[in-house]
Amino acid sequence: MPMPRAVYTFPRGFLWGTATAAHQVEGGNANNTWAAWEQQPGKIANGDTAGRACEWWQGRWREDFDRAAEAGQNAHRLSVEWSRIQPTPDRWDEDALEHYRQMVRGLIQRGMTPIVTLHHFTDPLWLAERGGWENPETPGLFAVFVAKVVEALRAYVTRWCTINEPNVYTALGYVAGVFPPGKQDIRIAMKVAERLAQGHAAAYEAIHRVQPEAQVGLTVYYRPMRPARPWFLPDRVLARVEGRWFNDYFAVAAASGRRLLPVGSRRDRRLGPALDWFGLNYYTTELVAFAFRRPDFARRFPPKGAPLSEHGELALTPEGLFAGIRWAQRFGVPILVTENGVEDSTDALRPRYLVEHIHQVWRAVNFNWRVQGYLHWTLVDNFEWQRGWTWRYGLWALDVATQRRIKRPSADLYAAICRSNALDTETVARYAPAALDALLPGVAAV
Ligand code: FCB
Repeated sequence: MPMPRAVYTFPRGFLWGTATAAHQVEGGNANNTWAAWEQQPGKIANGDTAGRACEWWQGRWREDFDRAAEAGQNAHRLSVEWSRIQPTPDRWDEDALEHYRQMVRGLIQRGMTPIVTLHHFTDPLWLAERGGWENPETPGLFAVFVAKVVEALRAYVTRWCTINEPNVYTALGYVAGVFPPGKQDIRIAMKVAERLAQGHAAAYEAIHRVQPEAQVGLTVYYRPMRPARPWFLPDRVLARVEGRWFNDYFAVAAASGRRLLPVGSRRDRRLGPALDWFGLNYYTTELVAFAFRRPDFARRFPPKGAPLSEHGELALTPEGLFAGIRWAQRFGVPILVTENGVEDSTDALRPRYLVEHIHQVWRAVNFNWRVQGYLHWTLVDNFEWQRGWTWRYGLWALDVATQRRIKRPSADLYAAICRSNALDTETVARYAPAALDALLPGVAAV
């Protein structure tokens, strides 16, 4: 019996693309917190540095944008590097702004909608010397920088993302201590979170002042935390409390101008409402178990039976993306999946990962939930923060020394989806047969 064919179509105008961040792809950034962090022994896997990265600053963005456009992508999310544009507090680098202007114009010329992130993990060194986001002046300084960028790029960009994953920035920089500045202090972390939320709202105001028609959002790394033993109250409480701080804090602040407290919340006009769209970054789901002896009272592990990524840290849990979209609905604005992907240098899991996650987006679209697009992380392997070059997220592989790009099979699979604005079981059978069962339950196995 021939296998039935199904075509899961997306709404017209759906955005398909990839996401990148300045420090991870540009190369040659020397004036920001990550460049300094990379010089400290033991901070980055293998002692790697971003180095030349993907040489976008030297112009290779052109060939990579060509790749994306030829692969049917109609959107791209990139970030601008604050330390290039404002190298010292009293100086603006007009050449750097011109460089970014060329890039966003380059996207439009290739038929791609630019989505520009104004802060993606890095801070200028001069800002860090003044205390970074611990300093109450930083939200205002950020808004000044943002207004400058929006002035420069407004002819080409209307969709802005103020801050990428303020929850990850706070958790890894101020609780786990694996991002700069490497602190482990909950009280400081709470302060930094509040300043970032203020920074988002200040940027929101600044952008709308310069460009009234702008669409302004932020992205949150959404990580469902499920109780490992649902029958055990401490696990349930832990999952609830952690999820509330990690997932909810910034979304609630931006959407409603309320600051979450250990119990309840408080209205704070400096935080919002300040949200035109919401960016959902989703990678995996984890189980948490209450563990009295751990500093954070938690043991964490992937759901049983879920296939794992190359280094074993990301579990294939696509239904978490559906849950994330349902969760994000409550903030009352359109949603964009601004990142989703898997580290996988051999492309062993990525085709299945891609199909099963995009299928969940399609399910959400069919509930009429306001999902406007899907951006895969990422186009070409790039510098993966504390993992250096050891984790590979690209649709294209990168040979860092020669700068050669090598297409992975997933690039063709994703191109087929983007070009047809649909997920077709014939394409899936060809590139990711392991995903068929998720699409046609019970049928594929027959
Ligand atoms: C996200 C970051 C992005 C990239 C991916 C893999 O948390 O926003 O820069 O590192 O993870």
